[in-house]
Amino acid sequence: MQKLLEIRDLDLTLDKERILQNINLDVNHGEVLAVIGPNGCGKSSLAYTIMGLKGYEQNGGGIFFKGKEISELSVTERAKKGITLAWQEPARFEGVSVREFLSIGAKAKGRNIDNKDLDWALNEVAIIPNKYLDRNVDDTLSGGERKRIELASILLMKPDLVILDEPDSGVDVVALNNIGDVINDFKNEQMGVILITHSDEMLEVADKAALICGGEIFNVGNPQEVSDYFKYQCIPCEDEDFEKHQGVSSNE
Ligand SMILES: Nc1ncnc2c1ncn2[C@@H]1O[C@H](COP(=O)(O)OP(=O)(O)O)[C@@H](O)[C@H]1O
Ligand SMILES: [Mg+2]
Repeated sequence: MQKLLEIRDLDLTLDKERILQNINLDVNHGEVLAVIGPNGCGKSSLAYTIMGLKGYEQNGGGIFFKGKEISELSVTERAKKGITLAWQEPARFEGVSVREFLSIGAKAKGRNIDNKDLDWALNEVAIIPNKYLDRNVDDTLSGGERKRIELASILLMKPDLVILDEPDSGVDVVALNNIGDVINDFKNEQMGVILITHSDEMLEVADKAALICGGEIFNVGNPQEVSDYFKYQCIPCEDEDFEKHQGVSSNE
């Protein structure tokens, strides 16, 4: 079966600095790929490069979405093809209500939604619809609430691939379970998910995990094993160069 997303030998240089190097990753329909690694290792940059954000144009390699090379496409064209990014910083739209935010997002994807759909999506992320629908998506909501409302929006948009950049950051523990449930909803819809995360709870919904270190993929495999390696055996990158780490890994 054709892969949903294939990243081949991807390189990204920003300000003459190599940010990503030789990245190879695949995501299938209905599959969750977790991406883990220390702060500053390049996780968000990878998300932005896949999404095609301005200033994150790759310097080498290919990104294939449903079999087609997309690296020349703009962010809007990639979104139209079915890729959505939920930023590390949650959405904030002054003067836009939750109801409008959800409806506009779905409409942009050609989906007409009714009140029942709105209620369903908000309930899925444990947001009480009649308390929140008329509130604004701004600072009057907590970061965690805005993150969950963003996930509700993605549930209504149903893109083929969603990239979630630390959906768990700034979210309380009870809400964490909930985010896991929503990611399972994405899987059930046969969406592919790239899940950038620091949390073990989130890793439970992942089918595989990739550890990025200094802009390179260190290993890919069983989420628990990759996470355990990162937590217990990884040597801080400032102290050692990457080749030495690879030596450690291959001796495992
Ligand atoms: N627009 C940019 N210009 C220059 N350097 C950048 C830019 N964006 C990110 N970087 C650098 O790329 C590296 C990876 O950052 P980032 O992708 O945000 O890491 P992570 O999300 O894993 O914490 C960091 O050293 C960061 O300073
Ligand atoms: Mg980041």
